[in-house]
Amino acid sequence: MLLAAAPFAIARAADALPPQPAQLGLCAACHGEDGQARIPGAPNLAGQPYQYLLGALHEYRDGGRKVAVMRAAAGPLTEKDMQALAHWYAAQTPCKPAQAESP
Ligand code: HEC
Repeated sequence: MLLAAAPFAIARAADALPPQPAQLGLCAACHGEDGQARIPGAPNLAGQPYQYLLGALHEYRDGGRKVAVMRAAAGPLTEKDMQALAHWYAAQTPCKPAQAESP
């Protein structure tokens, strides 16, 4: 039915977010739940491409990128966890560069 299209369009913005990953709490202290970095040196993940984020997690896990904190964070994740987290962060709204600090 064509009539169903209108409510769908209105709801689409909210629907675009995937379900919050179970492991998000492991990342939020540094990267934020919304992908806006909370600590100096942690990159903003919001809006980065899914494939890029997933690839980076693989590299930390496999040692291709040698960064101790991320190795520790990625080590216990399953492939499904990594996919869920990459989807989540890729779907977040990218941040404005000058807004890093909050009160
Ligand atoms: C203790 C702080 C900390 C925690 C916790 C943490 N990260 Fe990171 N993360 C970092 C830092 C610092 C970097 C930059 C490392 C580098 O220079 O490669 C990074 C880099 C990344 C990158 C690469 C981004 C890019 O632009 O290349 C991804 C993806 C990432 N983290 C995802 C995660 C996920 C998913 C989790 C949770 C499972 C997590 N991180 C937990 C600190 C953290």
